[in-house]
Amino acid sequence: MAGICAAGALLYYVKETQKDDAEHLSRVLAYSLSEYMVVDEVTKRNLELFQTIRDGSKQGSLFGIMDRTVTAMGGRLLRRWLQYPLVDKKRTDQRLDAVEEAREDLTLRRSLREVLDGIYDLERLNSSIVLAHSNARDLVALKLSLKRIPEIKRLLGSLTPELFVRIHDGLDDLTDIADLIERAIRDDPPITIRERGIIRPGYSHELDQIAEISKNGKEWISRLEKREREATGINSLKVGFNKVFGYYIEVSKTHLKSVPDHYIRKQTLVGEERYITQDLKTYETKVLEAEERRSFLEYELFQDIRKRVAQQNLRIQNAANLLAKLDTLLSLAELADENDYVKPEVHCDGRIFLEEARHPVIEKLMVGERFIPNTIEMDDTSRQVLIITGPNMAGKSTLLRQVALLVLMAQMGSFVPARSASITLVVRIFTRVGALDNLSQGQSTFMVEMQETANILNTATERSLAY
Ligand SMILES: Nc1ncnc2c1ncn2[C@@H]1O[C@H](COP(=O)(O)OP(=O)(O)OP(=O)(O)O)[C@@H](O)[C@H]1O
Ligand SMILES: [Mg+2]
Repeated sequence: MAGICAAGALLYYVKETQKDDAEHLSRVLAYSLSEYMVVDEVTKRNLELFQTIRDGSKQGSLFGIMDRTVTAMGGRLLRRWLQYPLVDKKRTDQRLDAVEEAREDLTLRRSLREVLDGIYDLERLNSSIVLAHSNARDLVALKLSLKRIPEIKRLLGSLTPELFVRIHDGLDDLTDIADLIERAIRDDPPITIRERGIIRPGYSHELDQIAEISKNGKEWISRLEKREREATGINSLKVGFNKVFGYYIEVSKTHLKSVPDHYIRKQTLVGEERYITQDLKTYETKVLEAEERRSFLEYELFQDIRKRVAQQNLRIQNAANLLAKLDTLLSLAELADENDYVKPEVHCDGRIFLEEARHPVIEKLMVGERFIPNTIEMDDTSRQVLIITGPNMAGKSTLLRQVALLVLMAQMGSFVPARSASITLVVRIFTRVGALDNLSQGQSTFMVEMQETANILNTATERSLAY
């Protein structure tokens, strides 16, 4: 109930600030604490999931190492998966199974990723079309993206894991939308939608007729110069155009005697006289009217096409979601393949066994030296608490974070850097930051550490991982 109220208030706010109904916001998803692992802000920062503590950059963060997505949508989804790891064995296994098969079939994975690579940000395109912010180039980008879907479906057809089957079956190839845009919009339309040259010939009979009139009229006028030169014998006679008088015939003063009677004088300049003729004016009116009507009609047609595409926004959104999922799964497979990760076994046995595990980020950033793998075993009975000692720079902090990172990676459906991994699904990871003093808030190092520890002891359950 509170959720519905909050969602309503948010929508109202969007409507007020955007002056729009935001039709493309199709549904609100409830986020249930019990569905995902809790990764609080402190843990997120301390594990450097999205940015490094030192300079806040993506490079050097876990996300920076993991992201092999090729589409904007996939990148956003991977981010979401990392932020909301699963706690349910069935769903985690589904992702892991999909990643496993995609990792094994290198050729297929390459082909799929190549096709995905040319797909624009469908979510952004979709909302800009619905909000009528998009121009003709956006529609062309949408078309080029949608045209890749049938190939993706074809390639996906041979994959058996459930998640891939669901993507395959749910993916609408949207050929009707691609065809409409193909028929209606030129391949290289102008940026502004008030310009001419958006609509492809053959799409609108009326537009084609108008274009024909305008073209014929212009041709007639351009031939006029030659005709009049021959008729009058004035070789320097010219046809020109300006905004005030429209088309005119220009004759220099030295030839005034040869000017025929039916020329109507319009303007006198220093060296020339400018004339019009009845015929010229008739064609000019035709051309100008046609041009005006043409701009207007193209604009109208474009708006109509955009509206028709906008009406299909739920279908486009759905395809965007499925392609994002595909891209994300393939990204995890690519990562696993490149770095020699292993498929973790996930369960609810209360045991974590990481054999020859590595820190996913540090092993990549180290130059010259090799990362020394280490094995960790914990359970919820006899090995509940581990104490790690060693000199400074021995690698204690690294090991602690490494365990947390691997658990988190496994629960988002990713393979992990280890020789083998067996991981119990945890619902929360606790971090004790300690050393980052809070002196400015009147708390000493010791006090902060005690408070953090107390907080962990008070909130941790048997399915928590704390360090
Ligand atoms: N297994 C490993 N193999 C290779 N290098 C490692 C390994 N673990 C950590 N390192 C590197 O060793 C350095 C020290 O690591 P870390 O900060 O974890 O040490 P520490 O024991 O926590 O030190 P301190 O007591 O000062 O907190 C880091 O530069 C890290 O990259
Ligand atoms: Mg340390």
